[in-house]
Amino acid sequence: MDYHSTYKSWQADPEKFWMNAAEGIDWDKKPTFALNNSNAPLFEWFTDGHVNTCFNALDRHVENGRGDQIAIIYDSPVTEKKQYISYTQLLEKTSLLAGSLIKIGVTKGDRVIIYMPMVPEAITAMLACARIGAIHSVVFGGFASNELAVRIDDAQPKAILAASCGIEPGRVVEYKPLIDSAIELSKHKPESVVILQRPEAEAILKPGRDFDWNEFQVQAKPADCVMVEGNHPAYILYTSGTTGAPKGVVRPTAGHLVALHWSMKNIYNVDPGDVFWAASDVGWVVGHSYICYAPLIHGNTTILFEGKPVGTPDAGTFWRVISEHKVKAFFTAPTAFRAIKREDPEGKFKSKYDLSCLQALFLAGERADPDTINWAQNLLGVPVIDHWWQTETGWTIAGNPTGIEFLPIKVGSSSMPMPGYDVRILDNDGVELPYGQLGAVAIKLPLPPGSLPTLWNAEERFINSYLSTFPGFYETGDAGLIDDDGYLYIMARTDDVINVAGHRLSTGAIEEALSNHADVAECAVIGVSDQLKGQIPLGFLCLTKGVNRPHEEIVNECVKLVRNQIGPVASFKLAAVVPRLPKTRSGKILRATMVKIADSQEFKMPATIDDPTILDEIRVALKSLGYAQ
Ligand code: COA
Ligand code: AMP
Repeated sequence: MDYHSTYKSWQADPEKFWMNAAEGIDWDKKPTFALNNSNAPLFEWFTDGHVNTCFNALDRHVENGRGDQIAIIYDSPVTEKKQYISYTQLLEKTSLLAGSLIKIGVTKGDRVIIYMPMVPEAITAMLACARIGAIHSVVFGGFASNELAVRIDDAQPKAILAASCGIEPGRVVEYKPLIDSAIELSKHKPESVVILQRPEAEAILKPGRDFDWNEFQVQAKPADCVMVEGNHPAYILYTSGTTGAPKGVVRPTAGHLVALHWSMKNIYNVDPGDVFWAASDVGWVVGHSYICYAPLIHGNTTILFEGKPVGTPDAGTFWRVISEHKVKAFFTAPTAFRAIKREDPEGKFKSKYDLSCLQALFLAGERADPDTINWAQNLLGVPVIDHWWQTETGWTIAGNPTGIEFLPIKVGSSSMPMPGYDVRILDNDGVELPYGQLGAVAIKLPLPPGSLPTLWNAEERFINSYLSTFPGFYETGDAGLIDDDGYLYIMARTDDVINVAGHRLSTGAIEEALSNHADVAECAVIGVSDQLKGQIPLGFLCLTKGVNRPHEEIVNECVKLVRNQIGPVASFKLAAVVPRLPKTRSGKILRATMVKIADSQEFKMPATIDDPTILDEIRVALKSLGYAQ
C-alpha cells in the first residue's frame, strides 16, 4: 500500500487501523477495542488491554531468540568508553534494578524521577520503572535545582535515580549538589535517592536517604513484569508552556507501545536487528521515544551517544559513530548539523569514513532550514527527511513514511500527516483556511494512540491549554500552512515558547527568574534568531527607580540568575537595560514586534501601541547587542 491508501484506510476505519497496529505488541490481555471516547473530549486508547512496556522492549525479544543481539551500544567520546549490551544482559540488569526498586518500596503507580546523563543506566532505570508499573519522570541534566524542585513537587516521586555527574565538554557537572538543593527547596521529600557513582566526580551520600547504585542491588531479587491497564501512565515528561510552571505530559502505556512500534518500520523504514541512532538526550522526548523505547520495542539496536556533534573530539564524530556501528537510520536536530557545518563547512571529516550503511537522515525538534537540509543532503548523499512532532504527541505528526512510500521531498516542509493525525489550518475564529494560507495548526480530535491523554494532575490546564481555543481540535501552538499537494510547512510558534538548539523553552519562565532580581522592576524575554541554535533568548530589563549601579553588572547578575534558576540549557547570555517596554494600551507587552525588530524583519506598527517612540529605544538596545542591524 502507498501512503495515500494507508492514510485513507485509517480515515475510513481508525478502529480497524489501530487494532491491526496493536498486533505488533505482546499483550497479557488483548484489548477488545481501540478508542475509548466515553469521556470526550478526553480520549484514551486500548483501555481494556493489559500489557507491560518492559516485557515488549526486552523479555519478548529474549524469548524470541534475540537475546544475544546488542540492544544498546554506549559510545561515549567524553569518557572514551564504549559498551555493548545484549538484550539478555539488559534484561538481567533491568530486572535486578526493578527488584531493588521494589525493595525500597516503589510499587505500581509510584513516581520515580530519573536525573541522569547519557549512560546505559539511564535506560535501565526507565525500563525498570516500566517493569514494575512505576511512572518515571526523566529530568534533563541541563536544568538547575530549582527546575528539578518544581518537578519533584509536581510529580511527588518516591525515589530519585541519579548519577553523581554529567560530563560536558571541558567541565564535569556534579549532579548530587543540585539534587540535594532541589530536595531542600521542594515541599515533597522523596524517601530514597540512588546514585550511580561515576569516577569523574563521586558524590557524598547522605546516610538513610541515599544509596549507592551497585550496593543497593546486591541483595535484591530480579523482578517480574507487572501488567498494567492500557491507559496506565508510562511516564511523565515535563515540557515548557507559556508560564513558568512546566506541563507534565502524560504518556499512556498501550498507545505508546502501539504507535512507537508502528513508527519504526513505517516511518523510519528499519527492520528488527537494524541499528538506529537518535542523537538527542534521554531528557527530551526524542530520547524517550527513539533512544530508549521505540528501537527496543521493535527489536533494533539503539545507540546511546554521550557527546556533542562537535568538539568531542571533532566535527567528524557523527560520521565515525555511523560508520563504526553501521547505523541505518539516523535522527537528530538541525542545530547539530549547523554546528558541524560551522566547524567543517566542506565536510572534510566525512571523507575519512565509510557511510554506505546509512539509509536516511531524519531531522526534528525545530524548523529545518533549507540551507541545513541541502548541505546535509549534499554531504551525505542520502535523503534528509524533516518530520514534525512534539513532546505531547511522542511521535511524528507529519513526516515522510519511508517504510510505506518514499514521498518526494519538498525542502522546508515536514511532508504529510501520519495516519492518526487529521491536521487542519485554522484562522483565529477556528475557520479552516484554504491551501497556502498561514494559520494555526490544529489536529482534529481524537489524537492518535501514544499522544497525551491529559497533563499530570492538571486536567483543567490540559483542557485550557490545548482543547479550548478550537473546540473539537487539539491546538498545537504552531503556525503553518498546507500547500496544494497536502504538504505541511511549520513556520513558527503562536505562543511564547521558543526553541533553542532543539530545546523547548518558555520565555515566561525566564522572565519569572529575572523578576527575582532585586533591581529588576519589569522585564521581557524574546527569542531572537541565532545561526547555530535557531533561536536564543534575549532579555530586556527595566530597573527599579533609584537603582544607579552599572548596567553591565546587573546584566551579568541576571545572566547568572537564570543559569542558576533554570539551568545552563536556557542559553541565556544576552540582556539589555531599557527605560521602558513597548506595550499595548491595555498593557500587553509587544514581544512579537520586538522579535521582528531584532531579526530586522518588516513589521506593521501595532494599532494599539501605547507609545511608538519606545520601539526606537528597543532598537538602540538591540543594536548594542548586535541585533536589529
Ligand atoms: N547537563 C549540564 N549542562 C548541559 C547539558 C547537560 N546535560 N546539556 C547542555 N548543557 C549546557 C551546555 O554545556 C551549555 O553550557 P555553557 O553555557 O556553559 O556552554 C548550555 O547548557 C547550553 O547547551 P546547548 O544549547 O546544547 O549548547 P552547546 O553549545 O553546548 O551545544 C549544540 C550546541 C548544537 C552542539 C547542541 O545543542 C546539540 O548537539 N544539539 C543537537 C541535538 C540535541 O540535543 N537536540 C535535542 C532535541 S532532539
Ligand atoms: P518539543 O516538544 O520540545 O519536541 O518541541 C516541539 C516544538 O518544536 C513544536 O511544537 C515545533 O514548534 C518545534 N518543532 C519540532 N519539530 C519541528 C519541525 N520538524 N519543523 C518545525 N518545527 C518543529
